[in-house]
Parts: sequence; C-alpha cells; structure tokens
Amino acid sequence: MATPVLIDTDMGVDDAVAVALALRSGAIDLVGVASVEGNVPLAQATANVARLLAALRLPKWPPVARGLAQVAPGLEYSAHVHGPDGMGNLDLATPEAFAPCGHVELYEQLIGRYGKSLVILAIGPLTNLAALVREKPDLLVRAGQIIIMGGAVWCPGNVTKDAEFNFYRDPAAAASVLSAGLPVTVVPLDVTRQVQMDESHVARLSRSRSSTAELLARMIRFPMEQSVDGGRGTFLVHDALALGVLIWPSLFMRARMGLDVTTDGKQAGRVRPTVGKDKSRQVGVVISVNVVDFLENLLEQLCQERFVV
Ligand code: RIB
Ligand code: CA
Repeated sequence: MATPVLIDTDMGVDDAVAVALALRSGAIDLVGVASVEGNVPLAQATANVARLLAALRLPKWPPVARGLAQVAPGLEYSAHVHGPDGMGNLDLATPEAFAPCGHVELYEQLIGRYGKSLVILAIGPLTNLAALVREKPDLLVRAGQIIIMGGAVWCPGNVTKDAEFNFYRDPAAAASVLSAGLPVTVVPLDVTRQVQMDESHVARLSRSRSSTAELLARMIRFPMEQSVDGGRGTFLVHDALALGVLIWPSLFMRARMGLDVTTDGKQAGRVRPTVGKDKSRQVGVVISVNVVDFLENLLEQLCQERFVV
C-alpha cells in the first residue's frame, strides 16, 4: 500500500528530484504539492511546480497549492545555485490554465482524507507549516509524520556559517514547528552534504530510457557547474534524501533530541541540540546515511532500471 505524501516545496532543482522520486516510487502516492517561497520568489516556486509536472507529462496531476512568502526583508534566494528560474534554466513552459488552490485548503482536505497516514515532506522554509501551527493548531496534530529537510546541527551552514538555507529563510518558523510537539524527523545538512551526485551519476540519468531521468540530467547541469556547497562538478540531492528516509528507512540512522533554533541576529537559523528532560519537545534527527546504497536506489528509481547485479 503506497504512503500518501504531501510535499511542501520551494521548487529548486533538488526539490524537482524529490518530486520526481515521489512520482516514480511505487512506495509513495503523491497526493498534493504546496509551494513556499525559498529558492526563488513565491510566484516562481509556484509556477515551477506546474512547469515540472507539465514537463513530466503526468496524465493526472496531484492537487497543487500556493503557499506563503517570507516577510523578512533582504533575504537571499538561491538563483546562484539553481539558476535564475530555480529549475536549471531549462526554459520549461508554464501551463496556461494552471490555477493552484490555497495551502490551508489543501492541507485541510488531505489531512481530512488521510489523517494519520498522511506524511508531510517539508523541503523548503517552514513558513506554511508554522502558519498552520499558529492559525490552525488542531490541524497538523491530525496528520502523520512530518519529515523536514533543514538545519545544520553539528556542521557549518550553507548560507551563513551557522544557518542552512531553509532555516535561514524563516528561523522563527523552524523554531515554532520544531517545538510544537509534532512527530517530526529532521534531515539536516550534516547528512545531506554527504550525498553528492557527480558526472557519473548524471551520465546514467542522461543515458537512461526514462524521460524523467533525462529531464533531471539536463536540470542538474546548472547546479553542477556552480562552485557552491559540495564544489564544482557535484550536486547535492538534499530534498530527495529527505524522501529517501521514508522510502528506504534502513539506510539511515536516527537519534532523538530537542533542537533549539536561533531566531534573530547574526546567528539566525543556527540549530543547537538540547538535552532537556522534556521528551515531548524532542524530534527525530537523521545522523547518518548509507550513501552508496541511497544513490544506487535513487538512480534505479529515477531511471526505472536495475544497475546493481
Ligand atoms: O539547504 C538546502 C535546502 O535549501 C534544499 O531544500 C534546497 O532546495 C533549498 O530549499
Ligand atoms: Ca528545497
């Protein structure tokens, strides 16, 4: 029985890999996608969801919602990583008749329908989820687990020396969601930085008979050519790794701890583990991954081909 998953995304290139994996994996039923501002402005992130689903030529789309922007002034986007459009600058068409619903409506509809079996995969800033915690406090508690890609717990950040991008863009939202007593699993930069695609992986996507894999290979080119986190010639699949925690749990090790997020000042977005006695405020934190097996599984799912003999 496939697990119903709602993906909350700021739709950059690694988000696209995660959505493609969700659509390709028989273990996942992608029942909704909500946009949030992050890698790119909200309107672009929302359009990117439609551009990706259209490019994947899906016969039937999952419902798509437009979420929220962050309000703090002067925050960086990630065009230098993902390309000015956030999707590797492939000039993908935006469908004309695309009409997203509101994210509250989508969350209410899916939680009402799937309840505790619904998994929420948050792979952008936590602005949408924090707004739900604040304005609909009885809603998220009726859903299932929430898997979050974000934070840098013991390693340097990728935006400032302390902050990982998703938590940097909305540290107050991260602090609120991590301390709300929800069934959260955090997949931090400490682990996602270990999983680097290189030319050999992209070549396998390129050569694959799968049109999904071929599209992703073209999309990944832009981030691969930037000298950013992971270095030139590599691509970090942060968000697909977060989904991998759900699909292939045996490839990961987890711990439980409280996580404190600094919400303002120069260290905004900084995460520090706490060892308080209040177990209700603890979350799951992924602390290691079997890198080789994860990448093999990911490529096999995206290419729909078995490589390991
Ligand atoms: O720090 C990496 C995270 O920030 C990823 O989710 C990437 O897509 C950006 O949202
Ligand atoms: Ca993301």
